[in-house]
Amino acid sequence: MSQTVRPKENVKLLFQQVYDFVIDRIERGEWQSHDKLPSIRNLAQELQVHRLTVFRAYQMLKQNGIVYVKEKSGYYVGSKNYDEVSPLAMENPLLSVSGHLKNHLNEIHGIPSVYQFSQALIDPNLLPNLFLSEYVKEVFDSYPKLLGTYSSAQGDVELREVLSRYLLRHHNIPSTSDEVLITTGAQQAIDLLSRSFIRPMDKILVERPTYSAAIDIFRQHGARLLPVDIQPTGYDLELVEQLMKLHKPRIFYMNPTFHNPTGYTVPTSQRKRLVELAEQYGCLLVEDDAFHDIYFEGPPPPPLFTYDSEGWVVYLRSFSKYVAPGLRICAVFARSPVIRPLITAKSLADNGTPLVNQKLFLRCFESERLQMHLEKLRTALQIRRVLMEKGLAGAGFSWVTPNGGLNLWVKLPDGLSANAFLEECVRHSISFVPGRICDPLGEMSSWIRLSYSFVNEEHIRAGVGRLVEIAGAMTPGS
Ligand SMILES: Cc1ncc(COP(=O)(O)O)c(C=O)c1O
Repeated sequence: MSQTVRPKENVKLLFQQVYDFVIDRIERGEWQSHDKLPSIRNLAQELQVHRLTVFRAYQMLKQNGIVYVKEKSGYYVGSKNYDEVSPLAMENPLLSVSGHLKNHLNEIHGIPSVYQFSQALIDPNLLPNLFLSEYVKEVFDSYPKLLGTYSSAQGDVELREVLSRYLLRHHNIPSTSDEVLITTGAQQAIDLLSRSFIRPMDKILVERPTYSAAIDIFRQHGARLLPVDIQPTGYDLELVEQLMKLHKPRIFYMNPTFHNPTGYTVPTSQRKRLVELAEQYGCLLVEDDAFHDIYFEGPPPPPLFTYDSEGWVVYLRSFSKYVAPGLRICAVFARSPVIRPLITAKSLADNGTPLVNQKLFLRCFESERLQMHLEKLRTALQIRRVLMEKGLAGAGFSWVTPNGGLNLWVKLPDGLSANAFLEECVRHSISFVPGRICDPLGEMSSWIRLSYSFVNEEHIRAGVGRLVEIAGAMTPGS
């Protein structure tokens, strides 16, 4: 992040930029509770703004309970959840409650574009729409009172039994239907986990980069995020151990298989060790495995959950990515001490995922056609990935070819910033996810995520062609 606040680059009032700057430092954990803030004079010098501007920002931070003043000493970071009040909220009490909510990914998805490389969703044309509609009738015939019935908060027991048998058959992991919770997508599972296990200012480990919505959810619950870089070879386990030892994080949120956004997969050799570390330091591993079945070169390593004997792993298995995103079904597998609070949180949130969705999902999930569909889907996605890679080749972009998942994590040609590039691409009806929103530190401004799963082949060819032309025009001579 630039150290200099320049009014022309941002329409926000200057004092609000200073206010945000301070919040950002606190949010990154650089300035912690009861740390002294820089003096007004020093910060004004550093940011090249007037001292009164810093004074105004500090006053606002003080009024919002984020910092406090010690007589004749200066301003200090408070111990309250800093994310509760924004300066604009001062004028509107309603905003003081809602103003801190953010969903950066949704904002990107809201950009209208013909070439939507921002959507990590399956192209609806690749989904088994025809047989899904046949199943709707069958399900209503089998359960005539379906619409008149609530699901239990934990989820339909028939579905939970099928899913626990599935886990045994496919991963050799024994579980009972009591150890399964059905949520409305993995996103709800992440939210319920945060509600149940994170208190404001708790530290948690997250991959860097990571699933952008997860960052926003954790921040909304006041968590302090400690980043762990994910590489094509996995994590630096020594660093993970140091962080666990030093900071005692409550959870480590991870997406270790065909990771979003990078596509990397944590190797088998690290998985067992991670579970040992979790047990040793009492850190709950949240294994988000949304892309497990989307592989191109053979199945991925077994889930970390396979190695868990003490209950330190929660396993999230969303089926949004290949059965039907519209049904919003995710299975959460965990042992009793973890699943019980989650069921309570689920009952408070919505009292159960709609039963219609669960029964429809069950019908699809048990059908033989699903396996055939999945095989075709893998081939179609691989073709799209190759096409996108061909389009990008030789134009200064670099990436590591993923063996599964829906995305390419792409480093931009030298000198090109993702923000400026996105702005220009949007003008040409192309959208993608800028790396910054996937980074818990808000950096990674020379990386972007391009999804090859939502756009058809013709559009991949044309859209990537345009994207490369735009990059070329923005980096002349490189
Ligand atoms: C890593 C990861 N987790 C969770 C989700 C959300 O999945 P769901 O549609 O099941 O809420 C996504 C969606 O892209 C994802 O990439």
